[in-house]
Amino acid sequence: MSKKPVASNNIRSLLNETRVFKPSKDFSAAAHVGSLAAYKKLWTESVRQPERFWARHAKAELAWQRPFKKVLQWKEPVAKWFVGGQLNVSANCLDKWLGTATANKAALIWEGEPATDGRPGEERVYTFAQLHREVCRFANVLRRNGVKKGDRVILYLPMVPEAAIAMLACTRIGAIHSVVFGGFSAQSVADRIHDCGAKLVVTSDGGYRRGGIVPLKKNVDDALAIHDAAGGLLARTVEKVVVLRRTGHEVHMAEGRDVWWHRELEYVDSRCEPARMDSESPLFILYTSGSTGKPKGILHTTAGYLLGAKLTHKLVFDVRDDDVYWCTADVGWVTGHSYIVYGPLANGTTCVMYEGAPNWPENDRFWRIIEKYRVTILYTAPTAIRAFMKWGDAWVTRHDLSSLRLLGSVGEPINPEAWMWYHKVVGGGRCPIVDTWWQTETGSILISPLPGATPLKPGTATLPFLGVLPEVVDDAGKAVPRNTGGKLVIRKPWPSMLRGIWGDPARYKQTYWSEVKGSYFTGDGCRQDEDGYFWIVGRIDDVLNVAGHRIGTAEVESALVSHPSVAEAAVVGRPDELKGQALVCFVTLKTGVDAHPGLKNELRQHVGKEIGPVARPDDVRFAEALPKTRSGKIMRRLLKQIASGAEIKGDTTTLEDFSVVAKLSQSDE
Ligand code: WT7
Repeated sequence: MSKKPVASNNIRSLLNETRVFKPSKDFSAAAHVGSLAAYKKLWTESVRQPERFWARHAKAELAWQRPFKKVLQWKEPVAKWFVGGQLNVSANCLDKWLGTATANKAALIWEGEPATDGRPGEERVYTFAQLHREVCRFANVLRRNGVKKGDRVILYLPMVPEAAIAMLACTRIGAIHSVVFGGFSAQSVADRIHDCGAKLVVTSDGGYRRGGIVPLKKNVDDALAIHDAAGGLLARTVEKVVVLRRTGHEVHMAEGRDVWWHRELEYVDSRCEPARMDSESPLFILYTSGSTGKPKGILHTTAGYLLGAKLTHKLVFDVRDDDVYWCTADVGWVTGHSYIVYGPLANGTTCVMYEGAPNWPENDRFWRIIEKYRVTILYTAPTAIRAFMKWGDAWVTRHDLSSLRLLGSVGEPINPEAWMWYHKVVGGGRCPIVDTWWQTETGSILISPLPGATPLKPGTATLPFLGVLPEVVDDAGKAVPRNTGGKLVIRKPWPSMLRGIWGDPARYKQTYWSEVKGSYFTGDGCRQDEDGYFWIVGRIDDVLNVAGHRIGTAEVESALVSHPSVAEAAVVGRPDELKGQALVCFVTLKTGVDAHPGLKNELRQHVGKEIGPVARPDDVRFAEALPKTRSGKIMRRLLKQIASGAEIKGDTTTLEDFSVVAKLSQSDE
């Protein structure tokens, strides 16, 4: 594979790319926002009088059990939106549609992973009314197992409808869910349970992935048996585990602790009143990596989050009644929360959900699904698009994709080459692409085109969403001139912003509200062009974006040094053709330890076990010493250069000696 970076958001390729794609007349005519002038007018009003703007939409979009009294109470860094109001998220996603034409419309169309022997995957459709019934029943199961308002529930499930059902069931009774992606390890599950003090875990006997089985229940068993430094159980708050039968494989069921989902359903009925929740009641916690320490439990609350997810889903994807919308993310990430579950259901949109991988059993899995269900809107990630490009057009073009009318991209900057391919080959040249910038913390999309209004340029997320005021600033927090790089900040609070880091208000303030005075700091580098379009360059902190997954270098480093052979470790990103960034680890070994060839793989596996397969390093390189500044800081910039420049000699051990470079360097980084 070539070492040349293709995630080419570098200035050269940006300047070369001048093509602008205007929305077609037909698309604009039917769109919610149909011209650039209309967008500009709405946006200007929205940031001039944000409270008025948000109040209007909160009233129009959400079903309230009690109206709110005050739109925003802001005392930096703590925001309270729609104070005094009460509402229930599951009622807004489901009950709202009962008694309307939407009740019997498909809410979820689920496609399971095809079997290893070539048998097609299972397929299930839930109407809004059916989903309502299943959510009520499972909410009663949670209650029956001791879950009360405010309790934390861990969801560690494959991509099956029950994942959405369990999330909505939590919201129905006011429990706080924390979904843990199936690609995380037992240790990560235990850490998250410990951090949020979860009372109950919902998991399954396994999940299918590329013909293999992910042993989710086994991981939960292991997680619940991990001891902390003091000798106690790390995940001791867990009282019950609800197990969904998915694969039928035998699993251990602990007497008195573990219960089967399907058995529990026998004891409950399908009536469950939605709990009355305050606007600011915690809705969910989602863990994400930061530049230091353990993952942060990002906290979202009820009204503001739901409004953000619903309004952005409606306007950015320009949803209509007859759309078949497919977001290919996993519910373990925020994209799955906002744009598979909450946004689409709150808008009454039919949503496709797929259990498996894009290349299982063959490279045309996505295109088959689009053809089969006549998908109209596809929302996926640049890393997937680059893989499709590499696999070749034929996999795509042999399918009838004429149902598609809009494409979306999320997770990392989309390089113009991938954008053009997506537009031409997948979209047949007729579908606008919405490149949506946002974060776990932002809850919903903050920078994105509105497809009927915004002229597109490949590689940029374009302009801010309504009510959102981003700016590119220098180190002093001053706005920089156009076409100058800087830090991306958001100047005003918005309803779906995070409300904190679970259990750590100081870290919340430090991470997001201390870097640039009076503004939310995103951690991203950015440049605004002459049209005011935002070009995101990528993270400027020690967070990597590997195949759209956010990985903290500090976490991987501490996983490495927890291995008995490792003395010190430094982790950096290297540009990667497919994943955007690859994880490269520089490791020094303890005295007396041999850098034998098997050790590299052992360390990769070790990180996989500590954090999960998603964080398994691409490359481990041994060094005599790590290059450090005179104050002892690891020179990451240098390591990054070495990681992306130097060819790796063979697959065996490379002992790199940085002592010379380190000595030569006079200045601290
Ligand atoms: C980071 C957030 C938001 C859901 C998925 C990731 C990068 C995200 C884009 C985009 C350029 C993007 C940023 C951001 N990012 N979308 N359209 N263009 N960069 O959520 O794991 O919280 O990661 O992903 O660097 O800070 P996340």
